[in-house]
Amino acid sequence: MSYIWQNFFIKQVVDAMKEHEIIICLGSSCFMRGNRQTTEIIKSYLTKNKISAKVPFRGQLCSSLCSKGPIVIIDRHTYENVTKESIIKLLDETLMT
Ligand code: FES
Repeated sequence: MSYIWQNFFIKQVVDAMKEHEIIICLGSSCFMRGNRQTTEIIKSYLTKNKISAKVPFRGQLCSSLCSKGPIVIIDRHTYENVTKESIIKLLDETLMT
């Protein structure tokens, strides 16, 4: 394999490792306890920071952690008791560092 292709593939692997992903629980408990508003805050945050295309954001059904909700998962880490007050700090810490 040539040096150029080797560097290309290494860059692809490194870039893949840097990618972020946000999953929000939209099960009825989390939704009613704040994730409805948190969804809008996250969408707005991604747009405002021009990272919507780089950070996939999706919902999922109940995460089976209702008593610890509202649940938001960022980069495969599950955050519990996420509120509309705490989500911005959480996004800053996880996406902007
Ligand atoms: S509704 Fe979110 S964990 Fe059950």
